[in-house]
Amino acid sequence: MAALLGILLAAFLIAAVPFALRLLHSFLWVPRRLEQRFRRQGIRGPPRRLLSGNAADYRDLLAAAQSAPLPSFHHAVVARVAPHYREWPERYGRPFVFWFGPRPRLVVSDPEVVKAVLTDSTGTFDKAGSGGGNPLARQLFGEGLVGLTGEKWARHRRVIAPAFNMERIKGWISEITAITSSMLDKWEVRDVAHAEFEIDVSKEFHTLIADVISCVAFGSSYKEGKRVFQLQEEQLKLTILAMRTVYIPGFRFVPTKKNRCRHMLNQEVRNSLRKLIEINGRKCEDSNNLLGMMLSASKLGSEFRMGIEEIIDECKTFYFAGKETTANLLTWATLLLALHQEWQNKARDEVLQACGKSEHPNAENLSNLKIVNMVLKETLRLYPPAVFLNRMVNRDVKLGKLDIPAGTQLQFPILDIHHDVNIWGTNADEFDPSRFAEGKSYHLGAYFPFGIGPTICVGQNLAMVEAKVALAMILQRFAFVISPSYVHAPMHGVTLQPQYGAQVLVREI
Ligand code: HEM
Repeated sequence: MAALLGILLAAFLIAAVPFALRLLHSFLWVPRRLEQRFRRQGIRGPPRRLLSGNAADYRDLLAAAQSAPLPSFHHAVVARVAPHYREWPERYGRPFVFWFGPRPRLVVSDPEVVKAVLTDSTGTFDKAGSGGGNPLARQLFGEGLVGLTGEKWARHRRVIAPAFNMERIKGWISEITAITSSMLDKWEVRDVAHAEFEIDVSKEFHTLIADVISCVAFGSSYKEGKRVFQLQEEQLKLTILAMRTVYIPGFRFVPTKKNRCRHMLNQEVRNSLRKLIEINGRKCEDSNNLLGMMLSASKLGSEFRMGIEEIIDECKTFYFAGKETTANLLTWATLLLALHQEWQNKARDEVLQACGKSEHPNAENLSNLKIVNMVLKETLRLYPPAVFLNRMVNRDVKLGKLDIPAGTQLQFPILDIHHDVNIWGTNADEFDPSRFAEGKSYHLGAYFPFGIGPTICVGQNLAMVEAKVALAMILQRFAFVISPSYVHAPMHGVTLQPQYGAQVLVREI
């Protein structure tokens, strides 16, 4: 018996010692070495705790910033949404570094560096850092385009990008207007007793965009896809928790309550999508929607063949990446127009001139909506749905004066750069769509709500068309102001959203 125990102990030690050494190497040795390299260049940040880095400091800052709403509806929102982008550079300068466990995040706001990294095609910078490199976040971002890299990313991108080209999207406009019209019909009969009534536009736009994505990309109705959206909302909450904590290697296999829930949700999302694909697949095959294109590519012999599991991964990505972002763009644009009545009037005049009072927008008159376009661009500047972009540095690299070691996660703070007075002037925090009047342009690395370079958002055209159509149709039928019950509390979930909803008072015109 003693001999057996001895053998078991020896086996355990043989297995455990290399694991412990690996942990020591990655949690102690590597961070120390990287920290010294940053120090030598004068790059500083909050003091790092041995195992957790600055994860707790980050959470504390965020909790303090989000403990109360802003006192009024103004747009100096960086300190509430991402307080570390203001607090830490004030103390440690720019760029600054902070740590999530053993991994450094180097926050760089220089547009030249942003442009150089995001447009790089040498493979030095890997976007697998989405979700903060946390494997628990991958269940939401999935193994779809957002999380893929290398050859697999290139193959998927080649299949998917053509599904979102402008010509195809133009073909979807009549469906988008029909879905939007049906939402607005419901607004009209919501409270017939009162001329003015309150609507939480955030909820409305989440349903609207979910419906549009289901319809144009999958050929299904919102009802069929509803279960996927509900499940993804649950996944979203668990993903946010995971992204704010340090991931310990192997933790995802520990059967904690949250991990079991993550696993169950993931299985259910995949099963629901599998069913949706089976129901709609035959209808879609050879049609021009996203599912149809992926199914055609999955036919035997195709160079870009995608298996059913890969298709499910991409569906997951589109449901998530397409809905949260576009719904929040529309939400902020509506709130901004409700606050800035002069721009609401200008935008409405333009819509009525281009489309009339009751004609639905179409491909032709949409391109005449210059002011609406400017409003949307300024909304994306002040309230970009994606608050930052991450890139993992694969090998030591020099970027201007910066000497960046492999293993660093570069973070480009979109929100902070979009509010930078050195780029946008002293009125950087003010809503002024005329910044985007025709002929004006900005540095590629100074304004990038959709990213730039080879991995630029594949759904950008669809998002802008959806938002333009919806905003134009709302302006045709309704006037709106901020409701007294609205409290201004922008916060960063996975996208930038209003913490307590987006209540506006709406009146038919
Ligand atoms: C206002 C709406 C949207 C915003 C602000 C937005 C923003 C972004 C950003 C910042 C990226 C990262 C780019 C990078 O890493 O370089 C991205 C990627 C992506 N977006 Fe969007 N997005 C929006 C709407 C959509 C829609 C409607 C879809 C699809 C239905 C979509 C699908 C994707 C996909 C698949 C990627 C990954 C692209 C790749 O890596 O090749 N997005 N988006």
